[in-house]
Amino acid sequence: MTFAPRIATLFAFITLIALASSPFIFQTLRIDLHAHLSNLYGGPKAGYSTVTTGARANFSWESVPPSDHLVWHDCYAEHQCARLNVPLDYSDPHGEKAIIAMTRIPSPLSVDSPWYRGPILFNPGGPGGSGVDLIARMGKALSTIVGPQFDVLGFDPRGVGNSVPRVSFFETAAERVLWAPGSLHVLGTSSDDVAREWARSKITNELARERQLEVLKHINTDQTARDMLRITEAHGKEKLQYWGFSYGTVLGATFAAMFPDKIERMIIDGVVDVENYYATLWTNNLLDTDKTMQSFFEGCVAAGPDDCPFYAPTAEDISRNLTNLYDAVRRKPVPVRTKLSYGLVDYNRLRTTIFTTLYKPFATFATLARGLADLAAGDGRILFELTETPPFQCACDDGLPDVGVTGEAQAAILCNDGADISDSLEDFQKYFKHLTHKSSWGELWSTIRANCIGWPKLPKTHYRGPFIGNTSFPILLIGNTADPVTPLWAAKKTSKGYPGSVVLTQDSPGHCSLAAPSLCTQKYVRAYFTEGTLPDKDTVCGIIGSPFSQPAPKATADQMSLQHNLTPDEYDILASITSLSMSHWLSVSHPL
Ligand SMILES: *[C@@H]1O[C@H](CO)[C@@H](O)[C@H](O)[C@H]1NC(C)=O
Ligand SMILES: *[C@@H]1O[C@H](CO)[C@@H](O)[C@H](O)[C@H]1NC(C)=O
Repeated sequence: MTFAPRIATLFAFITLIALASSPFIFQTLRIDLHAHLSNLYGGPKAGYSTVTTGARANFSWESVPPSDHLVWHDCYAEHQCARLNVPLDYSDPHGEKAIIAMTRIPSPLSVDSPWYRGPILFNPGGPGGSGVDLIARMGKALSTIVGPQFDVLGFDPRGVGNSVPRVSFFETAAERVLWAPGSLHVLGTSSDDVAREWARSKITNELARERQLEVLKHINTDQTARDMLRITEAHGKEKLQYWGFSYGTVLGATFAAMFPDKIERMIIDGVVDVENYYATLWTNNLLDTDKTMQSFFEGCVAAGPDDCPFYAPTAEDISRNLTNLYDAVRRKPVPVRTKLSYGLVDYNRLRTTIFTTLYKPFATFATLARGLADLAAGDGRILFELTETPPFQCACDDGLPDVGVTGEAQAAILCNDGADISDSLEDFQKYFKHLTHKSSWGELWSTIRANCIGWPKLPKTHYRGPFIGNTSFPILLIGNTADPVTPLWAAKKTSKGYPGSVVLTQDSPGHCSLAAPSLCTQKYVRAYFTEGTLPDKDTVCGIIGSPFSQPAPKATADQMSLQHNLTPDEYDILASITSLSMSHWLSVSHPL
């Protein structure tokens, strides 16, 4: 339906999600529990001011005055937005302010209602992803999953998107496009590109030091964890309710270690090896990437030639055919002209596109199979369109501010959080060799650590471990059996630090639970938030369907409903998770 807002990076990668608003409409069929409860218990929320600022479509964050308490303004579709003042530096609580931008889908219940349970905070990953964007696009479906007792609330972490200060090393979006290479790209295809990456990072981080040193001091996960506590307290609550994906699991685990007695509910989903992250290693993410790729080969065989155009009789055949295709585009890149733009399917584009699809198999594998088959026949359009973004345009004298989510925010968070790394080229070359030795996908993953070469050396006074805690409520961790960037192993490892926590395994490919339709998983999510129940240890949830047969979400839910006699709640949850797993624009420029 809609495109993601124009993103500033040339090449776009997802975090957990394809974030386009879902084209699937269930609302007509749903039993509208929200409306129902709203009629029963509705009315404005006592203690909260709601300001209507006219046309939602013309919503601008500037029209929301930052405030020390929550003042909600109508914004986006059926959302409310607010900007909360927080200390820029928590060691100087009465000094300068940072401003956190927040978007929510409010619970239809009044705050006085005995059923009202307050906000669940969301983080979409990144690092540097926008929680505002997440809730603006997917808040409705997430709200349906967690239940009407909750406000579903996304915030832009400090440094990101609509929050202030914002990390940006460039004067204009045009300057960024002309210099920044985009998040993930392949290194090692020519003899000098590892060295060039090193040299480019030195310059980028020279700009960072020159232009933003004062801002960068205040950007790290420790400060964002404190912001989450402030947001919670601004709601009149003492304890956090939270669902974080990917990098959001670093944020969650950090919060839980810093404030173990401030947890009412916490789900961390697509769990990162937190110690590895804080060591700026990025060496344990790709343990299961080949499993995700294998699920494409095997799924294609199982689907047959009608549903998988890149079909061959065995997984090995398909794998070999893909290797041949890599070799072919290395020798001879395929020029592409689409309705929207133009470019090349070269080795870099093919590898990064395939890597990206591994995050969201249900949204992409069928299209990927068609794209690969066409590419083998010389037509690169469908493959290209999988990660296509409109060409960058600007009237260079339009004086418009540079807005939106930047790749620099990602660098700022991960390089500030993590241990300082060596600035030497030789060490980066060694690192590159190590990573590519561990995984063939290391050739593109090594660009993440490269962000930190020549990074300003700031005092590391923020919380960096240990990641342990006796939390006031047990944490629920979720891991997929074939997650391309957050292996299940890391969920089990992280769980050990938090007594009482439980790892729920989702037997699916893809990144985070939302990547595949599992009614089982999302029912546990609902039960955890609403009832406070955890799944039994060693619970494994299956999924519905396969990435290669793409039934419409409503049809899936209808069919399941007939077969299994779903309750109205189950029907709604299933329809929501199916649509989330299939929403297919790969749009946010973040690896985690
Ligand atoms: C894939 O492999 C099969 C069997 O090895 C072969 O017959 C077929 O032509 C290959 N297809 C492509 C597109 O390379
Ligand atoms: C948690 O509680 C146990 C048992 O009381 C104790 O042994 C352990 O040290 C505590 N861990 C932390 C991180 O406080």
